[in-house]
Order: sequence, then structure tokens, then C-alpha cells
Amino acid sequence: DEALIAQEKKNAGKRAAEFVEDQMTVGLGTGSTVFYLVEALAKRVKNETLNITAVATSSRTAELAQKLGITVKSLDEVDHLDLTIDGADEIDANFQGIKGGGGAQTLEKIVACASSKNIWIVDEFKMVYKLGNFGLPLEVIPFGSKELFARLKREGLKPAWRLDENKEHVLTHNHNYLIDLRLGLIEHPHLLANWLDHQVGIVEHGLFLDVVDTVVVGKSEKTEVIP
Ligand code: A5P
Repeated sequence: DEALIAQEKKNAGKRAAEFVEDQMTVGLGTGSTVFYLVEALAKRVKNETLNITAVATSSRTAELAQKLGITVKSLDEVDHLDLTIDGADEIDANFQGIKGGGGAQTLEKIVACASSKNIWIVDEFKMVYKLGNFGLPLEVIPFGSKELFARLKREGLKPAWRLDENKEHVLTHNHNYLIDLRLGLIEHPHLLANWLDHQVGIVEHGLFLDVVDTVVVGKSEKTEVIP
């Protein structure tokens, strides 16, 4: 039920905000759960006069953070990231994840890889045994993307263009297209990630493997922090 999910996202965001310390440079992800995180973090910055710098993975998050009084810089203006907190779309039993439901996986992966530590914040319904029920997002270069789409289809990867209500391509921050792979079940995430990493035309895929250090699972009763 939607109210419960929203409450769990809020609980996760609030809990994760506690991991931020004074003087840190913090990566901020994208999505509705991150929205709650930014709200909670902005409160702490104000109440505890924390001196932090944020790097955002989308203009949406950058605008919100700035509006709430958090200093935002671009990734190239900072020399390192202490911690990045982001949402996720699915997390499996080995803490591998799918991201990119919002189409921001390329910037999110760049920020995640530049960060000493990564925390993901999710509601409990995103915790799964194996990945794949959530469509795997690919950001692709428009040039030649029909050929790439056909290649994905031949491989049995069940591609679907991400289109808006007018049947136009949804564009990423980098003005690229998005394809979602409706896989149902991903038996070997590392093999699939490796194959996707080697397909020309794919900018970045939503498999985030061996990236996360801590998962904060919002629950109605007690928020869980793993490990
Ligand atoms: C954005 O591209 C995604 O990776 C998000 O982090 C993800 O979709 C989580 O979104 P919600 O917090 O809104 O569920």
C-alpha cells in the first residue's frame, strides 16, 4: 500500500541522514526516497550547523538540496566523495542492485564509483532474492540504437524502449535514449553486466554490482541497517 511504502522510504531517508558527518563531501542520489533523505539532511545541517558539501546525481536533487540550504557542487569541483546515499530499484540477497528506474543510472554510477562509501536507502519491498523482476535500464546513444535494440532482441534480452505518454523517447540528462530489459530473472548478474559493458552504443546499464557498503531498509516498525 502506497502510504506504507512512502512511510518506509521516509524512515530509510531519515535514518541514512544520520551517517553524514561534519566536513563531509556527500553524493546525493535521485528519486522519492532520496527526497526524504535530503529533507532530513537539510534539517541536520541547519540545526547542527554542519559544514557539508553535496554532489547531486540529477538537476532535480541539486535544486531541492540548494533550496533547502545545502551547498551543492559539481563532481569536478570536489576532490573526493566521502559517502554517497542513493535509492535503488531492487536489491538481491547478495546486495547487488538494479538502479535507473528514474533513468539517472549513468550519473549515479559515476558518483557511486567516485565515492569511498555507498549507502542505499529502500523500502522493504525492494529487497528480493534474485534481481530481474524490475526492468533493467540501459542508457543508449541514439545513433544506431535501432540496430542495438535488434541485437538485444536476438540475444533474448526482451528490450523495450522507454517512451513518454506521446510515444516519444524519454531522454536522459545526456540526451540519450533508454531501453528497459524485461528479464524477469537474472541468474548471473556479473556475466550479464560484463556482456552489456562490451556492447557498443550502451553508455551505462543499471546493474550496480559490488558497489554498496550499507543498505538501509525502511520498515513500518524498525528501520534495518545492513550490515
Ligand atoms: C534513479 O535512476 C534510480 O536509480 C533511483 O535511485 C530509483 O529509481 C529509486 O527511486 P525511488 O526512491 O523513487 O523509489
